Amino acid sequence: MKDKNIHILGIETSCDDTAAAVVRDGKQVLSNVVSSQNDIHRKYGGVVPEIASRKHIEVIGVVIQEALNRAKMGLDAVDAVSVTHRPGLIGSLLVGVGAAKAISYAKGIPLIGTNHLKAHIYSNLLINPHITGHCIGLIVSGGHSSIYHVDGQLQIRALGHTVDDAAGEAFDKIARYLGLGYPGGPIIDKLSASGDEQFIEFPRPMMDSGDYNFSFSGLKTALIYATKKNPQITSEKNMASLAASFQESIVDVLVHKTVKACKDYGINTILVSGGVAANSRLRQRFEQTCEKEGIALWIPPLWLCMDNAAMVACLGYYEFKAGKRCTLDMDVSSRSDI
Ligand code: KG4
Ligand code: ZN
Repeated sequence: MKDKNIHILGIETSCDDTAAAVVRDGKQVLSNVVSSQNDIHRKYGGVVPEIASRKHIEVIGVVIQEALNRAKMGLDAVDAVSVTHRPGLIGSLLVGVGAAKAISYAKGIPLIGTNHLKAHIYSNLLINPHITGHCIGLIVSGGHSSIYHVDGQLQIRALGHTVDDAAGEAFDKIARYLGLGYPGGPIIDKLSASGDEQFIEFPRPMMDSGDYNFSFSGLKTALIYATKKNPQITSEKNMASLAASFQESIVDVLVHKTVKACKDYGINTILVSGGVAANSRLRQRFEQTCEKEGIALWIPPLWLCMDNAAMVACLGYYEFKAGKRCTLDMDVSSRSDI
């Protein structure tokens, strides 16, 4: 007899996106709703935590209802609710976790608290549920740039992380400095397409440090210093090439260190995830390098790279199957260990 399908409702409010999704059996996305706050935070040049949590409260009910509507099911058909409870902005996390607890209590269904970073890695299982064996995972987002060792049972161990700014944070800060807008990553990505990445040879921070850590703060300073010394590099004519040169440095370091981890550990599969994984140059460079090195590469489509609840439901499914159940006193945390 065929096993009953398992439907997980995923909820994600760790930063500034309010998201809910329904995923069947950890692989079939029945709905994926994301309400972005970008327009609200744009005028401040970054996420304002207090505003983010207030906006989550305003829309969380509608977003969850919309996810159920699109999945054509009611809460009675949901087997468990999976919610990001760390890491993230405390006030934002509390909104999603509060909603998940209310649903769990009212419907008598299991509550599963999930790690946002682990969920990013699991977003790759939504494009290929058959990923097995050992992998190297790279998470590049607004808050994190980390390399992980993922074993055959999908147990995850951190190998290295950024010692200062995350890659997305560096994109966002430099875009703000150059007056390009927010969020900076997609803007720099688009602008760079028409630029020359060899225009300026920026440093490749910690490229050969021998470990798996990153540092992007000095790169940011290098760009600011170069523009002060030579203001015409920010002219309209040069802006695309300046952006492309900056982007190339970040991409170079990310690709080099991830591939190095593969070689050091004798692993030939890479799982890339997080908002910066949407970057077209990063995707292109990973594809070229992995093809040359004979490494299998998985990068989710753009809608799964950005914060979303489908990945939270996917991870929730595997944790549900493994017997994980959380109680209503589950707390939120900003801790980013996996
Ligand atoms: O994973 P995510 O949606 O949220 C966090 O958990 O941080 O990542 C957001 C980050 C932002 O810093 C944004 O600028 C960056 O991802 N980002 C990009 C691109 N799209 C989003 N960075 C570079 N190129 C892109 N195309
Ligand atoms: Zn994220």
